[in-house]
Amino acid sequence: MNKTRVFVSRHINIFNDASSDFPELEITMPNEGKFLSKGEILKEAKDSDALITLLSDQIDADFIHQLENVKVISNFAVGFNNIDVKAASDKGISVGNTPDTLTHSTAETALTLLLMLSRRASELQMKVKAGDWKRWEPEVDNGYDLREKKVGIVGFGRIGQAFAKMAYQIWDAEILVWERPSAHQIKCDFPFRVVNPTEFKNEVDIISLHCPLNEGTQNFLNSDLIQSMRKNFFFINTARGGCHDETELLKGLMSGKILGVGLDVTNPEPMLKDSPLLQSERVVVLPHIGSATDRTRKEMAYQCLENIRAGLKGETLPFPVN
Ligand code: GLV
Repeated sequence: MNKTRVFVSRHINIFNDASSDFPELEITMPNEGKFLSKGEILKEAKDSDALITLLSDQIDADFIHQLENVKVISNFAVGFNNIDVKAASDKGISVGNTPDTLTHSTAETALTLLLMLSRRASELQMKVKAGDWKRWEPEVDNGYDLREKKVGIVGFGRIGQAFAKMAYQIWDAEILVWERPSAHQIKCDFPFRVVNPTEFKNEVDIISLHCPLNEGTQNFLNSDLIQSMRKNFFFINTARGGCHDETELLKGLMSGKILGVGLDVTNPEPMLKDSPLLQSERVVVLPHIGSATDRTRKEMAYQCLENIRAGLKGETLPFPVN
């Protein structure tokens, strides 16, 4: 059988395991523990028919212009802000991603961050580990009660809806959706209100970002928004670090306007060890683990390969971006 060459930009064992289900593809990847530079990925890509890229790979116009045989690029992520999709389309390259399968895991990550902040889990765990838990106290270590709080969702696509549903079911949250046209169908069996920015700023207690990073959402949580929030609020971001301004987050925490910050995404990534945000007990940061469960990552690998199988046959990708 004449195999077509697929290059994965990072060593990911799941692709080895999945290869028997895709016998027409010759799946190649770097050795375990080897992290390729953009130039090294490009070198491999030049001899490949399809590419599987990570969200940390910058697949910009310059990279795309130099591709010779690649017909499909499948991003091992739902977000695709790392790929110049227009440049790919202009060159006739199909781009795919891995939606749906990571919806639950990512919404669960947002929930984890909010629960950790509201009940001060990270801070109090450190207290116990340091041997500072002296006795049961009625008024020490108390957290923030989430019951009936108003949760403001920015980006009401699959993940935003899944997180909103969790909040509604778990603590009867009132769901307010930042007015913004959503490309995704709204399939909700719980109540929510789409509100204008003024209502949003006046009412919400928690802001959770679930939007893609693009020109409209770059620095969405900035000084103006923080200043114009009427209530003190929690901020959760499981979308992209570029959607918030970390200097302003710090100022907001210091002024007390922001009650807590939960980030699964930072700017830059990885977050610098000396980021002042890490000094605050009211900040919880996870290392971009939104989709990081074995089941989800396996399903994402299959979605990537299904995109490539279809694209190389000249068919529409099952999970298309362009
Ligand atoms: C993760 O951030 C993704 O876009 O899949």
